[in-house]
Amino acid sequence: MSRNAEELANKIRAIVGPAPVSIGIILGSGLGHLAGAVEGIAIPYDELEGFPHPKVSGHNPNLVIGNLEGVRVAVFGGRAHYYESGRGDAMLLPLEVLKALGGDTMIATNSAGSMVPDMPTGSIMCLSDHINFSGLNPLIGTQTDARFVPMKDCYDPKMREILIQSALDVKVKLHSGIYAWYSGPSFETVAEIKAIRMLGADAVGMSTVPEVILARFLGLRCAAISTITNMAAGMSNESISHEHTKAMAPLGAAKLEKVLRAALPHF
Ligand code: HPA
Repeated sequence: MSRNAEELANKIRAIVGPAPVSIGIILGSGLGHLAGAVEGIAIPYDELEGFPHPKVSGHNPNLVIGNLEGVRVAVFGGRAHYYESGRGDAMLLPLEVLKALGGDTMIATNSAGSMVPDMPTGSIMCLSDHINFSGLNPLIGTQTDARFVPMKDCYDPKMREILIQSALDVKVKLHSGIYAWYSGPSFETVAEIKAIRMLGADAVGMSTVPEVILARFLGLRCAAISTITNMAAGMSNESISHEHTKAMAPLGAAKLEKVLRAALPHF
């Protein structure tokens, strides 16, 4: 754990109080509404030295700490993407801070393109596994043997079970599938989508995978949910753009919030 993270955790505790956090939630593009649902205190990333300064519209760079469904959560309203800086480890410090605050669990959310005809725009998908299609790794350069992180079951099977059961309880259709990380910021070509499909992926996006690698490095349990904002390139005539992503994210976001609220007390 870096000294920076301990110092930031002390600063945050001085603002929000000493109660330990249990779960960190990272919000994807257009999913900021969830931060407003937390009864708690928002701290702008700008006040947290070393935190990323996400410049992607549709993200709200505040750390909100408080209660959601009786669980003490830290909601990260913005994330740093690899494509912003060329740094894959830009979310390391926020995740270290989560751990320093007492958190042992990270839930990542994202917007993604679907490669499954039966999983249209507005669907939500629980990640069962991922394919690191970018070939990049946020742990490159890390000097300890802890860098050799096993990734089998990196999406915690117990958490996935709870998410699936919670979705059934609240009558929301939750798909399960494999997410492929594409570096972005350009979207994929039609040929790339054909290739990724052949490799076995169900959804494609520009985030989450580096965070899950970093979170497993830190020993955090992980789960992740995608909201499908479009069919991937060549899968339909739907437009693919960041504007479209932001416009469509709320369709899945309402479902995601329902499932997450139902699941949180059981993790
Ligand atoms: N590709 C990559 N990232 C995305 C997409 C997509 O089609 N939709 C939303 N984020």
